[in-house]
Amino acid sequence: MKLLLQEIHDKAKNEVKDVFELKNLKDLRVKYLGKKGEITQILKNLNTVGSDERPEIGKIANIVRSDLESLIAQKEKELEDKILTERLESERIDVTIKNKRVKPANLHPLTIVTRELEDIFLGMGFEIASGPEIETVYNNFDALNTPLNHPSRDLEDTFYINNNIVLRTQTSSVQIRTMRDKKPPIKVISPGRVYRSDDVDATHSPVFHQLEGLVVDKDISMSDLKWTLETFIKKLYGQDIKIRFRPHYFPFTEPSAEIDISCFVCGGKGCRVCKGEGFIEILGAGLVHPNVLKNCGIDPEIYSGFAFGMGLDRIVMRRFNIDDLRLLYDNDIRFLSQF
Ligand code: PHE
Repeated sequence: MKLLLQEIHDKAKNEVKDVFELKNLKDLRVKYLGKKGEITQILKNLNTVGSDERPEIGKIANIVRSDLESLIAQKEKELEDKILTERLESERIDVTIKNKRVKPANLHPLTIVTRELEDIFLGMGFEIASGPEIETVYNNFDALNTPLNHPSRDLEDTFYINNNIVLRTQTSSVQIRTMRDKKPPIKVISPGRVYRSDDVDATHSPVFHQLEGLVVDKDISMSDLKWTLETFIKKLYGQDIKIRFRPHYFPFTEPSAEIDISCFVCGGKGCRVCKGEGFIEILGAGLVHPNVLKNCGIDPEIYSGFAFGMGLDRIVMRRFNIDDLRLLYDNDIRFLSQF
């Protein structure tokens, strides 16, 4: 029996020594010290040993047991320490290592230009108004004095949701909303997305952007319109730019004008960009038609106003030398990250 104990003790010591996994150590503990473990068995079966030997065997068995217990506990601590050290090692952050540069996001070129224009107009005392992109036919056409036979109402040109609802074709609908909601003096701009049924090519898109302006007050005249637009255009394109007002027709303004600026490429001599004209059209404008004021409950005998509207996409394209409108809508990160 003594010999057996000795053997078990030696075997167990070696096995504990060779263990590298906590799990295996646990198994060893069960194997020797568990309820059915080898040492436990011996202690349980002490009664089969002769009574003279019993105390000694019992003593040795207990010594072996406590030795194994402390060996296993020690090994357990060793293994736990090792695991902890390994984990600390693997999770160590080297703060001196060179960081991969995370490029910050940037604004879309349309947003950049829109904000720039908003800044200019805010500086001139305008407020920013907005309206929905899904608009009533009334706000988009009727209230804007657009005759029933006007070509812009055509199904070929406008996206109709139903007979009374369209995707707005112009930000001018915000004029109507603003004048209905507020009494003069009114001085707002309204940038936003508009829709027209166009085939997509380098200069056309069924979705594009406009910026509308509206001023209504007593004694507003064409000279107010002219000063405002000249001031704006010079802030945007510089003092040397030449500006040309050309008579035009819009249902909602009378008189109406289209405004051209001298070509920034050739300076007015005529080139490919301005198609030999020397000038490029950038906005439509005019004095708010009395019918439009009336439609919004504003007395045209007391108040008058001017309005203007411009396409933002072209301004963006010119500003950043972008030669294809589609780039603004493709969401190609290689393009967008350049701004
Ligand atoms: N809404 C017109 C367009 O889309 C532009 C415009 C706005 C003209 C305001 C005059 C006054 O072409």
